[in-house]
Amino acid sequence: MTDLTGKKILLGLTGGVAAYKSAELCRLFVKAGADVQVVMTESATRFIAPMTLQALSGKPVFHDMWDARIANHMAHIELSRDRDLILVAPATADFMAKLAHGLADDLLSTLCLAREVPLYVAPAMNRQMWENPATQRNAAQLSADGIHILGPDEGEQACGETGMGRMLEPEALFDHIAIALGDKPLAGKRVLLTAGPTFEPIDTVRGITNLSSGKMGFAVAQAAVEAGAQVTLIAGPTALATPTGVRRENVMTAREMHRAVMAHVAEADVFIGVAAVADYYVANASDRKLKKSNGKPRIELEENPDILAEVAALPNAPYCVGFAAETENLHEYAQAKRASKKIPLLAANLAHNAFGRDENELILFHDEGETRLPRASKLEVARGLIREIAARLPNR
Ligand code: CTP
Repeated sequence: MTDLTGKKILLGLTGGVAAYKSAELCRLFVKAGADVQVVMTESATRFIAPMTLQALSGKPVFHDMWDARIANHMAHIELSRDRDLILVAPATADFMAKLAHGLADDLLSTLCLAREVPLYVAPAMNRQMWENPATQRNAAQLSADGIHILGPDEGEQACGETGMGRMLEPEALFDHIAIALGDKPLAGKRVLLTAGPTFEPIDTVRGITNLSSGKMGFAVAQAAVEAGAQVTLIAGPTALATPTGVRRENVMTAREMHRAVMAHVAEADVFIGVAAVADYYVANASDRKLKKSNGKPRIELEENPDILAEVAALPNAPYCVGFAAETENLHEYAQAKRASKKIPLLAANLAHNAFGRDENELILFHDEGETRLPRASKLEVARGLIREIAARLPNR
């Protein structure tokens, strides 16, 4: 769990059934060390008792604009003054409409209007309310005004219907806010990366590929977004979902991947080759399905472009990072690979520890020697790699 010690969150609740989930969200924030001030609308107090949130946050909960507990009667300003951000979860359709029009007829909406800090809202409502053009207009207006909308999610709803409108789960909301509050060592940087396997056709239905799942590359893309970078991910065939905030282009073959990378590389500050790119393609691939009755096919292989080496050799090359999956002699092969591709940083792992798994461990090879990123989830390891890249990135 991300450490939120010293972070100050204003958690607003409006009147929706999902308010009960915000009790869990409050607990997660507090457990991570955050200081949470809860503000509720009157209707939120119909769904969950303020006492519950008071007990979880360890602070008095406010819902009345005329609350006399704040000495200068400026609760609508004071409560958000020392906060790092405001999160309204759940945010009803009505509350979003108010925000979109700058209405301020209760404590929470007034706090949102008078704020100086970023505002995040997590919509929660019935599917038809969410799909209603008025709500969609309001959501678009909120985004245009710089308010961050988290979700909603699709699924079963309290009203018995199924569709878009469920509030994101507390864990997901926690992650979004932890990212928002985290350091941004790659702010203003553009990261281009490749991930997944490639697929080299033999005929229209068969091909040469490998066991790369794409998980490591997708985790690196997510970690780069978390660090504030603008991220373009060139992905080989994989069914993985695109991490929030990542621009993705899908490719099949190494040559397509090469073309896509070259089209974007001029704008990149960092290039990370995580993809397991096939070294060869089938030069005599058939444009129709091969028949067994025609006998054993002869497959002619030609070399694919080495994307990473080519990027590293560009006159204005971005900071280049390579990956190496070895089955033996890890140190020797990895160091040789870093030298032959002329790249400043190479992340090496043992193939049987990484392929298709959810965990990984890396050894980073660089000019000063080695840095170990110990075994952890691929996302944790990816965050470590991104921290290392950010620290080594020359000022460009
Ligand atoms: N890479 C690339 N283009 C290729 C081949 C590899 O960009 N055509 C990148 C990978 O994304 C990875 C690194 O280069 O970052 C891997 O280096 P490579 O020498 O290709 O590794 P292997 O294919 O594992 O090499 P070998 O088979 O010789 O071990």
